[in-house]
Amino acid sequence: MQALALAWRREGSRIGFVPTMGYLHAGHVSLVKKARAAVGSGGKVVLSIYVNPTQFAANEDLSRYPRDFGRDLRMCREAGVDEVFAPRDRDMFPDANQGDHSTWVVEQQVSMGMEGAARPTHFRGVTTVVAKLFNLVLPDVAVFGAKDFQQAAVILRMVRDLHFPIRVIVSRTVRESDGLALSSRNRYLDTAHRAQAVVLNRLICQAREVVRKSRAGIFADKLRRALKPVEERYPLARVDYIDFFNPSTLQPLTRVKPGSRMAVAAFLGDTRLIDNGLL
Ligand code: PAF
Repeated sequence: MQALALAWRREGSRIGFVPTMGYLHAGHVSLVKKARAAVGSGGKVVLSIYVNPTQFAANEDLSRYPRDFGRDLRMCREAGVDEVFAPRDRDMFPDANQGDHSTWVVEQQVSMGMEGAARPTHFRGVTTVVAKLFNLVLPDVAVFGAKDFQQAAVILRMVRDLHFPIRVIVSRTVRESDGLALSSRNRYLDTAHRAQAVVLNRLICQAREVVRKSRAGIFADKLRRALKPVEERYPLARVDYIDFFNPSTLQPLTRVKPGSRMAVAAFLGDTRLIDNGLL
């Protein structure tokens, strides 16, 4: 991959990159379109498929994470991807079996709350693998989805702090018609849980309405209480956290105003989904 990327760069082609864990959906296709728009028809678009073991904790869904490589390849072809990079674990971590992988990339500010608090080893797995992918694909532009808003913020910070010569584009969340954000993990949901998975989006919409009415802002605890009736309408959902934060710094807010951002994580059965939105 790196040799190919270097050859492309010598020819003067710009490289757009979409890192994924596969099991592609329309959200990923929208990221490919953004990458294509950024590098133009003469550029190259690379999509990586790697279910990164280092971002899953031992009790998480690594072994059952959905995979369908054939379907992914067809979708990539249709979307105009130039190269699918699908490394194996032994390509990404060749010396790990000998206990010989000892370098990690750790962001220590924007990764601390929300997903970082709920999944303490998650972001160091993401940043380490994304840094490795950047060094292999050598992109000019990399595109990430806004559904994983904190992930995008962590990557932006890593790119800034480590001087990666890469422009990061954060692309808007693609949703089902009922508001559920597209995610490969939606595949786990049975009919009943799928119907109630809209709770994440409903909570964000309700919070937005409350915040926009309260021009001067509302205390986070009061807003959480105002969201309880929405939560109660979806008894199959167990909310993991609801956080309100400054979208630039990701610092939690005690007073929420128009322009603040909200993140929510919820379990539907064994499936943990996340979503976020501008209030
Ligand atoms: O968002 C994802 O699919 C993953 O976290 C990523 C960015 C591909 C890193 O493994």
